[in-house]
Amino acid sequence: MKNVKDLDVKGLTVLVRCDFNVPFIDGKISDDNRIVAALPTIKELIKKGAKVVLMSHLGKIDYKKTPEEIEKAKKKNNLAPVAVRLGELLNQEVFFCPAVRGEELAKAVKGLKEGEVLLVQNTRYDKGESKNDPELSKEWASLCDAFVMDAFGSAHRAHASTYGVPEILNKEGKQTAIGYLVEKEVVSLKRAVEVPSEGRPYVAILGGFKVSDKIKVINSLVKKCDKVIIGGAMAYTFLKALGKNIGASPCELDQLDYAREMYETGKILLPVDVKVANDFDNPTDVKVVSVDEIPEGYEGMDIGDKTIELYCSEIAKAHTVFWNGPMGVFEKEQFVDGTIAVCKACAELKDAFTVIGGGDSASAVKKFGYKDRFSHVSTGGGASLEMIENDGHLPGIDVIG
Ligand code: 3PG
Repeated sequence: MKNVKDLDVKGLTVLVRCDFNVPFIDGKISDDNRIVAALPTIKELIKKGAKVVLMSHLGKIDYKKTPEEIEKAKKKNNLAPVAVRLGELLNQEVFFCPAVRGEELAKAVKGLKEGEVLLVQNTRYDKGESKNDPELSKEWASLCDAFVMDAFGSAHRAHASTYGVPEILNKEGKQTAIGYLVEKEVVSLKRAVEVPSEGRPYVAILGGFKVSDKIKVINSLVKKCDKVIIGGAMAYTFLKALGKNIGASPCELDQLDYAREMYETGKILLPVDVKVANDFDNPTDVKVVSVDEIPEGYEGMDIGDKTIELYCSEIAKAHTVFWNGPMGVFEKEQFVDGTIAVCKACAELKDAFTVIGGGDSASAVKKFGYKDRFSHVSTGGGASLEMIENDGHLPGIDVIG
C-alpha cells in the first residue's frame, strides 16, 4: 500500500482525512492524543511542500432531529478549537475554514501556499458525509490533487471523506496513500488478527458495557484466541445466561442465548467474584461477593479479588494480548482495582505483544500511567474491533488499494 512518504506532492493540494474526534470538557480539549498522533503525516507533507487540507468529523449530528437540535449539535461539535491546538503543536498557523462546501471552502483551499495547513470544519456539518453522498465526494475530490488516509479511528466508516473521495481520485489516476498513523495501526493490529504459534497463548480481554456492541468481535475472538476474559458490565449478561442471580447489575436480556453459546466454546473466562454496590451514583455500601451471592438490589461495579487473581494468572501466560473495555467503573475511585490489576499484569509481561483496542481502555491505561508499557495503544475503538472481526480489513484502508 502506498505510504505518504512515497508521494510526490510538491506544490500539490493534498487532502488528509484525520481523526480529530477528540473529547471536550467544558469547551476545552481534554485529551489531544489523536491530534498528536496525526503530526508525523502532517509534518511530512509540509516538508514535501504540499498545500495541506485537513478534514475530520467530530461527534455525532443526527439529521432526524429538529432543526434547533441539529444546530445545537453543530455548535457542540465545532472543530475550530482543534485548529488552535494543532497550530500550537506544529508551531505554525493552522487556518480554519468554517464552511464544509461551496465557494468559501474552494476559496480557502485555493488561497493555500506550499507548506501551509488548512483545517476544514467538521465533515458531519454536511448530512451527505455519513451517507457517502456522491455529490459531496465529487466536490471534495475536485478540491485536491492527492489524498492521504490517516484517520484510523474512522476507517471502519465508508463515508464521503473516508471512502467516496479516495474512490474518485483512484479512478482519476490521482495519488492516494495511507499516513504514518494508519500504517502503524495496521501493522500492530494485524499482529492481533493472525497470531502464529510463537505468539500463543493469545488472550483477549473484553470489558465495557454492551455485549450487543461487541457481538461480532466475541464470535471472532473465540475462534482466534486461546482464552477470552470477560469483565465490565458485559460480564453480567454472561452470568445471567448461566442462571446466576445478578441483582441490579446491567443485563441485555436479548443476548442471553448468544452469551450461552459463546460460553459453551470453552474459551470464555468469567468472574468468580465481583465488587457490588447498593447504588451506582451514590455507593454507600460496597462489598466483594461470590457471583453466586449477588444480593438483590446490588449492582456489580468491578471484578473481585479472586477474579483478579484468576485473570492475572491467565494474562501472565500470554504471548499476545488484545484488550478492549475496562473491568469496572474505573472512573470512580472505589472501582479501579480490576482495571489497574489488568494494566499491571499486561505491563509485567516479558516477551509479549500487547494491544489496547482504543476507547475506554486506552483512557484507563493513560489515566493509571501504563500507556508506555503496552506494545500498541490504538487510536480507534470501533475501528480496531472491526479490524479484528473482518480479518484485517477496513473499508477506509482497503479503498487506498
Ligand atoms: C471514534 O471515536 O471511535 C471514531 O472517531 C469514530 O467515531 P464515530 O463512531 O462517531 O464514527
